Amino acid sequence: MLTSTEQATTYHNFIDGSWVPSVSGDLFENRNPANVDDLIGVFQKSTRSDVDRAIAAARRAYEHWRLVPAPRRAELLFRAAQLIADRKEALARDMTREMGKVLDETRGDVQEAIDMTFFMAGEGRRQYGQTVPSELRDKFAMSMRQPLGVCAVITPWNFPMAIPSWKIIPALVCGNSVVFKPATLTPLSALNFVKILEEAGIPPGVVNLVTGGGEEVGNALLQSGDIRVVSFTGSTDVGRTVSQQTAPSFKKVHLEMGGKNVIMVMDDANLDLAIEGCLWGGFGTSGQRCTAASRVVVHRKVYKDFTTRFVDRVKALRVGDGLDPKTQMGPVVSESQLKTVMSYVDIGQKEGAALACGGHPLRSGALAKGFFHEPTVFTDVDPRMRIAQEEIFGPVVCVIPSSSFEEAVGIGNNVQYGLSASIYTQDINRAFAAMRDMYTGIFYVNAPTIGAEVHLPFGGTKATGNGHREAGTAALDVFSEWKSVYVDFSGRLQRAQIDTAEL
Ligand code: UN1
Repeated sequence: MLTSTEQATTYHNFIDGSWVPSVSGDLFENRNPANVDDLIGVFQKSTRSDVDRAIAAARRAYEHWRLVPAPRRAELLFRAAQLIADRKEALARDMTREMGKVLDETRGDVQEAIDMTFFMAGEGRRQYGQTVPSELRDKFAMSMRQPLGVCAVITPWNFPMAIPSWKIIPALVCGNSVVFKPATLTPLSALNFVKILEEAGIPPGVVNLVTGGGEEVGNALLQSGDIRVVSFTGSTDVGRTVSQQTAPSFKKVHLEMGGKNVIMVMDDANLDLAIEGCLWGGFGTSGQRCTAASRVVVHRKVYKDFTTRFVDRVKALRVGDGLDPKTQMGPVVSESQLKTVMSYVDIGQKEGAALACGGHPLRSGALAKGFFHEPTVFTDVDPRMRIAQEEIFGPVVCVIPSSSFEEAVGIGNNVQYGLSASIYTQDINRAFAAMRDMYTGIFYVNAPTIGAEVHLPFGGTKATGNGHREAGTAALDVFSEWKSVYVDFSGRLQRAQIDTAEL
């Protein structure tokens, strides 16, 4: 295990096809959240001038890349997908070590990147437009997608390879170039991903990686006149800043932000299944998913039974290092995330919710050097409480009683976010009514709020998003623009909307 900065591997930025240090000469450390003595490596603390170099390289590369036929671009992406698949296990281990979630989940994260890369590479032969009849004789009308230019990709630490793939791969297949700023907590997975793109033959400058903080690197991207698209996943607060910073230059901005997702357990639900779903939805990734099931609304008729059995299962969860196969829940990602969780536990108790289990950081024995927190359940939560309204992004689930389906839907919708929701019921009428009435971007029946697949649109309503979707073919809409093309082969001037008499 490495202990000092001097001994640690130094990782570089990737600009214009070369691995280079930042002009600042400054570095930052990447440590294992399960054991802070484990120094994974040191990374470049980049500055605005590093970003400017990356943008300039991406601009130059774009002029070539946009003209490479999309099926040819896709061939490189198919190769990249296969390389990720070949290295899945090593990539998952690096990821668990740098952000803590258990190996099964980091394997899933890498798998999501493989799936997305294969799926989007397929779009190299599609990217369908429309051909439609013209209203005039001897005139041809069609629409086609065109790339926009240089895209800034700003990604979070909770899905360190999946989310970058959701953005970078569609950007590339559409013919854009990319400057990628990953979260400072997960630069290694980002770098692993970019290395694979390099190895797959993506030309120099088409993908650039610049590591460092939001203040320096993020702001430089947002303010640059040469960036045409910003795709950001992170908190709603930062998303608002992204929106404000990019508005004056009319960048196309895709925002994927917070969630306060709900599982609704009806009185006719299969309770065993619902409990299993709430455990996975609430405590998978230590609750650090935007899709996490942080609220469970339970019908009063089954409330007691559900809470007793759910709490027993939560108490039995094995918390530990995600690299240990016996571990079911890893640490949270950082000291500050741990403090946030602890502060919400405090808030919940002051608000009068019943702390049914958990509620403390775990600091003894093998866990002493990591950011571990007990899986925590609050019961008898009033839906207006802050713990039931605000995104905690940690292993805290609020159980809220309700008296009817209608009340559950009302509670479910009554938050500022709208990412994912779910219902457990055997009643098909209720399932369909909830599917219609929950104002979210994602909805599940008899499954938890997590588990989105790459070939469907991913995103949310209200404070979760700004109307765009990633994944699926919807991602193409973020990374391309429509161009309508008219070809008049009549040899004379034909005036649309005016020369209408001729049949
Ligand atoms: C996130 O929550 O940040 O549906 C992304 C899921 C995953 C992706 C989650 N496939 O939970």
